[in-house]
Amino acid sequence: MDTQVAIVGAGPAGLVLSHLLDRQGIDCVVLENRSRAYVESRIRAGVLEYSTVELLCALGLGDRLMRERMVHHGLELLFEGTAHRIPLSELTGGKTITIYGQHELVKDLIKARLDKGGDILFDISDVAVYGLDERRPTVRFGHRGAAHELRADFIAGCDGFHGVCRQSIPLGVLRSLERVYPFSWLGILAQAPPSSAELVYARHDRGFALHSMRNAEVTRLYLQVAPDESLERWPDQRIWGELRTRLARDADWELTTGPVLEKGITPMRSFVAEPMQYKRLFLAGDAAHIVPATGAKGLNLAVADVTALAAGLTAWYSTGRTDLLDSYTTTCLQRVWRVQHFSWWMTSMLHKLSDNAFDEQLQLSQLRYVTSSATAATSLAENYVGFPYAFD
Ligand code: FAD
Ligand code: DHB
Repeated sequence: MDTQVAIVGAGPAGLVLSHLLDRQGIDCVVLENRSRAYVESRIRAGVLEYSTVELLCALGLGDRLMRERMVHHGLELLFEGTAHRIPLSELTGGKTITIYGQHELVKDLIKARLDKGGDILFDISDVAVYGLDERRPTVRFGHRGAAHELRADFIAGCDGFHGVCRQSIPLGVLRSLERVYPFSWLGILAQAPPSSAELVYARHDRGFALHSMRNAEVTRLYLQVAPDESLERWPDQRIWGELRTRLARDADWELTTGPVLEKGITPMRSFVAEPMQYKRLFLAGDAAHIVPATGAKGLNLAVADVTALAAGLTAWYSTGRTDLLDSYTTTCLQRVWRVQHFSWWMTSMLHKLSDNAFDEQLQLSQLRYVTSSATAATSLAENYVGFPYAFD
């Protein structure tokens, strides 16, 4: 098999890249080790930045998204029993955020790609990358009981944090910068109408809690838990009790409950691999970096990376120019580090970090500042709705 760009991974990064390349007439094949049903039902992110939505619409991928999404103009920070609204749109010249499940977006991206005759191979096994020092590298993999080789001009490693592409880069090339936080998030999806019109980020003495949603009937909720927490210790009743306590406010408010549809635990981590390229292999999305979920940025960062990669590949195929591919790492890392800082800042401000009263007072002071100063709130809002992408 032969193609121009071999894309490993059918998550948001790999799928959006396949659409961006197709638009420029560049051939690609997407290789995914899970089944289509699995990737289409994997519950993950829910917040799309303003520019992510603009990009998807510009690519003709926004029809269902625009029909079914929830548009939010603000969010709430809840601490010491009081909720304070950050009016995101007012502070950012009218920008909004969009609530739309990542798995719904993945469904749209897969369907649109297959409808256009694009190649996505699901259920592949034993993926391995070879010949990175050669002019045309190869991806070897198993599919339907047979061994295959896909030769390409470039490989895009969009295979997530645990994928094989980053690990295929020779030792000594990459530098990993990492921070692991002493807590995880326990997330649930519940068949229950949202208890609040907007997202609520809550700082509580018992730990962080987040109220989010997917639509008018489905809520998404998260709790800070111990890093090594096991789901068995969290029967539904305990989860609802803890959410009720941490999301409680002095004003009249009630948490709507309902059947739990899905439950999972996610570790909190900041991670960056630099550079994001080795010869003809380019890393994008979670394969290159992880941000703690408090900033709601991972999916958006994955999309931003592949816009830069697509621009570089387009320049290379159309004119032979290599400058944009050469500067891929530098271009991406500017945004990556801004997002790393914002996500770390949100995480540190809202989670229970220790029993140290000094830490607690610093958090409360920061929260009071960000909810009372228009200047501080504008900075949060600007980062939360996201910075524009270089896309044309
Ligand atoms: P992935 O989505 O991980 O896709 C990688 C793909 O590669 C997968 O389909 C995987 O099966 C496949 N793969 C792996 N190994 C191989 C292999 N060897 N061969 C072939 N295929 C392979 N981000 C936000 O922006 N907003 C949020 O609100 C948010 N909330 C989150 C909540 C949770 C609970 C979690 C876990 C994440 C959240 N994120 C959020 C982060 C976001 O989901 C990720 O950053 C995003 O999925 C990254 O996309 P990706 O395409 O880079 O990687
Ligand atoms: C959601 C997830 C996040 O990490 C976040 O910061 C906000 C919302 C969500 O799944 O809806």
